[in-house]
Amino acid sequence: MTKKLQRFKVWDRTTRLFHWVNAISVLSLMIIGILILNAKSLGIEGDAKILLKTIHTYIGYVFAINLCWRIIWAFIGGFYARWNQFLPVGKDFLASLRKYTSSLFSGTPQQYIGHNPIGKLIISLFFLLLSIQAITGTIIAGTDLYLPPFGGYFAEWVTEGDLERLKELKPGDKTYVVEKAYEEMRSFRKPIITVHVYGFYILIVFVLIHIAGVIVSELREKNGLISAMITGEKILDDLPEDQKEYSELKEDDNV
Ligand code: HEM
Repeated sequence: MTKKLQRFKVWDRTTRLFHWVNAISVLSLMIIGILILNAKSLGIEGDAKILLKTIHTYIGYVFAINLCWRIIWAFIGGFYARWNQFLPVGKDFLASLRKYTSSLFSGTPQQYIGHNPIGKLIISLFFLLLSIQAITGTIIAGTDLYLPPFGGYFAEWVTEGDLERLKELKPGDKTYVVEKAYEEMRSFRKPIITVHVYGFYILIVFVLIHIAGVIVSELREKNGLISAMITGEKILDDLPEDQKEYSELKEDDNV
């Protein structure tokens, strides 16, 4: 029996734009991050290394602002962009996760217009990890390059507020720092950079799981998951689990 295909509006324009700006900036940050991590063996040092870190930070600003905007959008955006649509919470979540997982094993996975329960778990952890990278990165950029928003604070710390030293202070140049204050700042920064680097390693695993999950879901469920992030619409051939919410929503015309 041929099933009837139905279109469902799911991702609004802001969510789609966020997604692609996020994907491109995270990928660029990872590539430049790998170069920074291996700078020594690649022979990148001095001004070239500072330049690399500065480029990484500027892309980091785009990434962090985009992430902040998405967090705001989760309060005010379209129905499927909101917190309650992707946080793995609510009294029914565990039951829906069990049902979805067993439907996966049975070979006829339940269909969802928004995120399926496994998708909710992965996306929430993704957001947490991205937020950790944005916070730690913004702090490190202050300690290392004296860049905003915390650069002024760290510059004062390492020069002990001496105006003459502050005027001459440059990233990567220790001539004008007060040695003891600088060492204290470096000890403060050490655990933050450790979190940033381990966050990066975990993020690589997440990016791979995310891409593999999307491809497997697209191939098995033929749900137009990938094109939905471009067109905003999913095409399903089965009744989605969240159909009821969607019907109510259409009455309000607020997708
Ligand atoms: C998904 C987001 C991000 C990833 C995957 C990432 C990854 C990395 C990696 C792998 C390094 C090399 C660590 C090292 O050897 O020092 C690094 C360094 C750095 N990151 Fe990020 N980063 C991200 C976001 C950010 C953001 C948002 C900022 C700032 C706005 C930032 C600022 C920095 C700075 C300043 C360094 C140089 C640290 C040093 O002195 O070595 N990063 N990042």
